[in-house]
Amino acid sequence: MSMVQNPFYYKTRTLYCENMPVRTLVKKYGTPLYIYSRQAFLQRYAEVAGGLKEFNPLICFSVKSNANIAILKMLGRAGAGADIVSGGELFRCLKAGIPPSRIVYAGVGKTTAEIRFALKSGIRLFNVESLPELHAINAVARGMGTIARIGFRLNPDVDAKTHALTTTGKKENKFGLPIAHALDYYREAGRLAHVRAVGIDMHLGSPIFSLQPYTTALRKLLAVLDTLATHNITLEELDIGGGLGITYANEKPFTVAAFARAIRPFVRRSGLRLIVEPGRYICGNSGILATSVTYVKKTPVKNFIITDSGMNDLIRPPLYGSYHRIEPVQKRGQRTMTADIVGPICESSDFMGKDRKIEEPGAGDCLAVMSAGAYGFSMSSNYNSRPRACEVLVSVNNASVIRRRETYDDLVRAEVR
Ligand code: LLP
Repeated sequence: MSMVQNPFYYKTRTLYCENMPVRTLVKKYGTPLYIYSRQAFLQRYAEVAGGLKEFNPLICFSVKSNANIAILKMLGRAGAGADIVSGGELFRCLKAGIPPSRIVYAGVGKTTAEIRFALKSGIRLFNVESLPELHAINAVARGMGTIARIGFRLNPDVDAKTHALTTTGKKENKFGLPIAHALDYYREAGRLAHVRAVGIDMHLGSPIFSLQPYTTALRKLLAVLDTLATHNITLEELDIGGGLGITYANEKPFTVAAFARAIRPFVRRSGLRLIVEPGRYICGNSGILATSVTYVKKTPVKNFIITDSGMNDLIRPPLYGSYHRIEPVQKRGQRTMTADIVGPICESSDFMGKDRKIEEPGAGDCLAVMSAGAYGFSMSSNYNSRPRACEVLVSVNNASVIRRRETYDDLVRAEVR
């Protein structure tokens, strides 16, 4: 199959994923169904790898965006490392065969058990977010007779101009350490025998649609490197996080080439190995959520299209007010209606789209919630005791189940009767 621009497309009114009609997949696997395109993942990964090639970077896929082992395995084989934030994510990465030397670990609340697990596994780098954490890592490493490679995640106080709930690089956010005191942290690390400070790190938020926050923050990081140099502190790695935006509706995200141009002067001058942590950019438009219409409910003030997927399957719209395009899996040329597209969950916030103009569906018709590959399944839950969805990975004209649909028994498996 030739590389098409978008692996999700219509042919004679039928929505396809690569060479598979979505309705065929739905018939076989049921709904709600996460459908991923292998080609999309690999194409987006290749775009990042190709666009940043001049830096010989380590591309650490942000596991929180899509943590399925089959996805991690596929990206790992393509050369990706991983950005993790928990012992569970580390466990998944190891199962997926991602080499620990390509794994970097961020997060403000690493427990001693998680630190021990990461040290035992031999990960590349801890991105440290507080001084108590630095001391905890040093203590665990001492107990294990080893030395932990660490970097400091610095909070550059730069506004990434993204949703308030997904902004991480402003000084009032819990993330990172205040950049003004960076020298103190590296000096403190220098006094500890079981950590070695090799990195400097930032992550500004997600999704970001402008290059300016990156360059403003990088300027600040470079100033820190200059200060460190005057104290004979030299590093190896420059981790600039993720956050690269994608198109959900009409957004015009910057390209990887533009990103490379913007960061080039800073990365070159730093002389450090570049690490990037894209999640959404690689997986966001590589997956959709297919759902079936259960009822169309018309009231004097509003119409509701009630589907079999809810906020437990995709929480982004209720949580952030995020917009996802919603399209018929099979266009029929019916008249359109304006409706809220909602789920079966007992919460008024259980919606996928509000006031959408859409071809009037009948019960049993299927809809596709687009751009659902990132922070879709990975943020799903069992709320309202709903078994979680099935995930399938499509490659040309083959589909494989990469996570079976949960059963009622799965719901109670860990519980004590
Ligand atoms: N690195 C770190 C340290 C992060 O915290 C994140 C995302 C990333 C990388 C990857 O960001 P990305 O390239 O995917 O934008 N649930 C929200 C997004 C939360 C992102 C949290 N951190 C959403 O659905 O939009």
